[in-house]
Amino acid sequence: MGIKFRWLGHSAFDMQIDGHSVVFDPFLTGNPLAATTPDALSPELILLSHAHGDHVGDIVAIANHTGAPTVSNVEISNWLHGHGVRDARGQNTGGLGDYGFVTVKLTIAFHSSSFPDGSYGGNPNGFIVTAHESGQRLYFAGDTALFSDMELIGDERIDVAFLPIGDYFTMGPADSIRAIKYIRPRFVVPMHYNTFPPIQQDASGWANRVSNETSAVPIVLDPGGEFAVPSVV
Ligand code: NI
Ligand code: MN
Repeated sequence: MGIKFRWLGHSAFDMQIDGHSVVFDPFLTGNPLAATTPDALSPELILLSHAHGDHVGDIVAIANHTGAPTVSNVEISNWLHGHGVRDARGQNTGGLGDYGFVTVKLTIAFHSSSFPDGSYGGNPNGFIVTAHESGQRLYFAGDTALFSDMELIGDERIDVAFLPIGDYFTMGPADSIRAIKYIRPRFVVPMHYNTFPPIQQDASGWANRVSNETSAVPIVLDPGGEFAVPSVV
């Protein structure tokens, strides 16, 4: 039980949360780092942080072949309904939704959020996801700049944080170190890097900085790599 996750490349993850599959930002088709295909995923819940193409990805196909509900902001939810997704749940920033085995709270994120077709995607979000049974909690930042209210997110006692480190489109390695100091997670996982030339980063150099400058343990995965968050002893 607890949180176990597999990195699918970019900001896409397949997580097992207390034994239930939750997929995040499933950009696989056209993702040079993609570690799986949309058909191979069978989530019970799909989370989408914002409307950019490198996050929306294959969500419509995955939602349709699994029937899994999607969770996003309300504007994205309306767009998904209009594109054939039957069970799109539209929350908004600061709100908590209960999906049976987890709660999902939408956080702020400093970024933009329009669909590839130009449709309005509302404000971008991150997620705080709490597992009912184990009590483990994750923060998935989505695409964002550094912001000092990450300290409030840290007050919620985060077991594992997923942060972009690619720079150029989001915060980069140096600002992610400042973010980790605000969030104070037990473990931290880099994402949104190495997919495209402008976001190439040295993940092992980043991991050294995390170990030396923060209290978090860095978890650097290759695409397809997995990690299980241990319970607090
Ligand atoms: Ni984006
Ligand atoms: Mn992005």
